[in-house]
Amino acid sequence: MGKISLTGIKPTGMLHIGNYFGAIKPALELAALYDARYFIADYHALNQVKDAAELRNAIRHIAAGWLASGLDPQKVIFYRQSLVPETFELSTMLMAFTSKGLMNRAHAYKAAVSANTARGEDADAGINMGLFTYPVLMAADILLFDADFVPVGRDQTQHVEMARDIAETLNHNYHETLLVPPQAFVQENAAIVPGIDGRKMSKSYGNVIPLFSTEKELRKLIMRIVTNSQGVDEPKDPDSSQIFLIYRYFAAPDEVKTFEGRYRAGGMGWGDAKEELFRVVNRELSPIRARYEALMAEPAQIDRILAEGSEKARFIAARTIRRLRKAAGMS
Ligand code: ADP
Ligand code: TRP
Repeated sequence: MGKISLTGIKPTGMLHIGNYFGAIKPALELAALYDARYFIADYHALNQVKDAAELRNAIRHIAAGWLASGLDPQKVIFYRQSLVPETFELSTMLMAFTSKGLMNRAHAYKAAVSANTARGEDADAGINMGLFTYPVLMAADILLFDADFVPVGRDQTQHVEMARDIAETLNHNYHETLLVPPQAFVQENAAIVPGIDGRKMSKSYGNVIPLFSTEKELRKLIMRIVTNSQGVDEPKDPDSSQIFLIYRYFAAPDEVKTFEGRYRAGGMGWGDAKEELFRVVNRELSPIRARYEALMAEPAQIDRILAEGSEKARFIAARTIRRLRKAAGMS
């Protein structure tokens, strides 16, 4: 059997081009090499998003974003976590093999505690059990599907290591490899797409170029990219220019070379540089945007794709649960 690549996508916020180059594209490349199982982690999002309309919309937005970017639901099992209830059964079972101390050491939980302490509040203020047990649910997501590789951003590697720990504890207890210990797959040279202010593009910094803005909004955002005050005639340094750094993601190698030459030669103003950036960004995003809009116009179709993927996922999940119940003495 081929190796399995699995990842979860939390439906919070709108997709931006950092997500596209840092998460979506690399995961789709892996899907060409391995059996891929990609899902919308809506129960993970519930810890943050408590408004029903907002969550429903975020689920469809993220699903349409992946489909529009090229995810083929005939090749990838593409599903929604909440439609695979076996996840929650496995999560409960894993609780019995997870020490509380392990959860105390999780970065996300620790960060929330230190933010509280710094504000002089109670250490656990605003922290729900969903946040505290987040890594167990994530371990269930991963272990339910015998995943070998889990493509994630660096901030998520600790969670994958915890899933591995939990799998090994359970396997050790039953003297049998019941669960596959997974490995995080972080692209070591994964580029960090800069935002329009020069910091890492992130929804928490408000500096993003959304993946699906209209053409007009896209141009407006690009025109807002921060530059220095060099005049038109002056030669410019491409490597310290946000415009150039973003351009490299969208342009062909010969275009990048030509653009670099225009920087160094002088005679190109920042306005011209931004126009050239807009041209290549819009060229890449236009067809994706069109597919996205067509999908979002028919939300029932998105729901159907996820429901069909979830049926396939449940078939695999049920197998894992049967294996575990038997090993645990529950059948
Ligand atoms: P944000 O920082 O906007 O909250 P998330 O934490 O939701 O983004 O990230 C989702 C995925 O997108 C992760 O795999 C993350 O590594 C990737 N990602 C986010 N921002 C960038 C960026 N600026 N460059 C590259 N990858 C990114
Ligand atoms: N925790 C991940 C994030 O915040 C999302 C996620 C949930 C996930 N379950 C997963 C990622 C399983 C990989 C595997 O981005």
